[in-house]
Amino acid sequence: MLAVSNQKGGEGKTTTAVNLAASLAAAEHRVLLVDLDPQGNASSAVGHARTEARRGTYDLLLGAISLEEAIHPTELSTLSAIPATPDLAGAEIELVDVEHRESVLARALRRSSTAVADWDYIVLDCPPSLGILTLNALVAADAVLIPMQAKYFSLEGLGALVDTIHRVRDALNPRLEIEGIVFCMYDRRTNLAQQVIAEVRKHFPTLVYDVVIPQNVRLSESPSFGKPALLYDIESKGAQAYLQLAREVLARREERALP
Ligand SMILES: Nc1ncnc2c1ncn2[C@@H]1O[C@H](COP(=O)(O)OP(=O)(O)OP(=O)(O)O)[C@@H](O)[C@H]1O
Ligand SMILES: [Mg+2]
Repeated sequence: MLAVSNQKGGEGKTTTAVNLAASLAAAEHRVLLVDLDPQGNASSAVGHARTEARRGTYDLLLGAISLEEAIHPTELSTLSAIPATPDLAGAEIELVDVEHRESVLARALRRSSTAVADWDYIVLDCPPSLGILTLNALVAADAVLIPMQAKYFSLEGLGALVDTIHRVRDALNPRLEIEGIVFCMYDRRTNLAQQVIAEVRKHFPTLVYDVVIPQNVRLSESPSFGKPALLYDIESKGAQAYLQLAREVLARREERALP
């Protein structure tokens, strides 16, 4: 189970969660995309606009429904989704009084463990904060995939995120690893972008993926059609970059002897 997380807004989390999930699904893996962001962008990007879905992540978190009941199909037969519904926006507050509120997602999934076993990969799209929804993702997942832009302020955010991941690992989820860091919305015309990437590679030599996701208009257009980029324009540079990312994620997991 992979959490796609970065507390900074607009770094490419949702685009990465959706298109990585679709690319893994296109490689015949069974993939479940879970939208943990009340904005619901990942849900609409796979055809389940937040306002239309009736059951979703919120009901699952509150234990109102089982995993099976929360699952919605998508246009790709091997990709399913648990959408965000409007009430997810209240979850941060409602969960304040719940005991062990950081592990409600992990427990909901454990209750549905036979259904969880149906999926090769579960991809969690996190909101842009380190609040209770993100914390639930980090407690439930075995790894965090970090999308980031090659910008100076993104670099500052990365340190805070890595600290948080280490703290969650020490206190709440000893299995948690960093799956990798992927640079998004890359504009090769800027020198600064190349410097930022070089800097992050120096600090995390094994974590930065070789593939860099370019700025590509197809990636920003496809969500409005409710489709991942590979169903919208598979030849586009964006769709191809995410297919490459999926291959790299799979190859690196194989090296680590993970499924
Ligand atoms: N490679 C790309 N090329 C062009 N546009 C992109 C690319 N990646 C993302 N975008 C666009 O940039 C915006 C932010 O991306 P995205 O929604 O994936 O980020 P996010 O980290 O999920 O944001 P938030 O923090 O609000 O959840 C979106 O409008 C998206 O369509
Ligand atoms: Mg998002």
